[in-house]
Amino acid sequence: MADRKPIISGNWKMHLNHFEALKLVQELSYLVTEDDIDAVDVSLHPPFTDIRTVQTVLEADRLPFHLGAQHCHFEANGAFTGEIAPSMLAKLNVSYVIVGHSERREVFGEADDMVNKKVLAILGSNMVPILCCGETLAERDANQAVSKIDGQVRAGLTGVTAEQAADMVIAYEPIWAIGTGRTASADDAQNMCASVRATVADVFGAEVADSVRIQYGGSVKPVNAKELMIQPDIDGALVGGASLDADSFARIVQYRLAD
Ligand code: PGA
Repeated sequence: MADRKPIISGNWKMHLNHFEALKLVQELSYLVTEDDIDAVDVSLHPPFTDIRTVQTVLEADRLPFHLGAQHCHFEANGAFTGEIAPSMLAKLNVSYVIVGHSERREVFGEADDMVNKKVLAILGSNMVPILCCGETLAERDANQAVSKIDGQVRAGLTGVTAEQAADMVIAYEPIWAIGTGRTASADDAQNMCASVRATVADVFGAEVADSVRIQYGGSVKPVNAKELMIQPDIDGALVGGASLDADSFARIVQYRLAD
């Protein structure tokens, strides 16, 4: 099995202005140690208006967190009022971009083909996409979870090279677990992440599947992080609510020290 370094990502969603962002990053820098960073990659995904501020503090204080974004457009520039181009993020040293989050899909109508265009555009700007997939409760109850995820992952990866895919992150986030306090059981999360890996294997072969990192997301908290993270096919967590508090996010990053 490839030696996949786990990645824990804080998706701040539409929370925290740039002053609050600065405070959170500074608090995290006191809590997260070098040993933690040797064991786990950490990415922070602030709202657009905070990114420059977070970039400045990360670089000035040499903090070991990767800068991330939550979203971008797929075109390089143009008349797209309100949108941000991948190259603009890359210029701020953003390295990871969340794409296809269920909130973007559901609230803003992003379909698989648009998600795919964004994946390609993010890769084209030399950043790493965190491609999200996940089923609704109705789909799960109808036994369609695996096929839904399979379709989203295949669509999201269309046109991606094997080499690019190997370095990507895929986040499995059951929609019914996001922000609800209801987490998938560790077994369930493991099975679904294993099925994401099987899809990647089917498209790109075993070697790429062995190297791609798969996160679980949906109500990850300090109390459940370890049982999720020790699963063989779970290589990280995409954390919403619990990433807004330095103490709880640091404890998730330090899951390996939990009882
Ligand atoms: P949550 O969000 O941790 O608040 O459930 C996860 C996500 O939407 O990425």
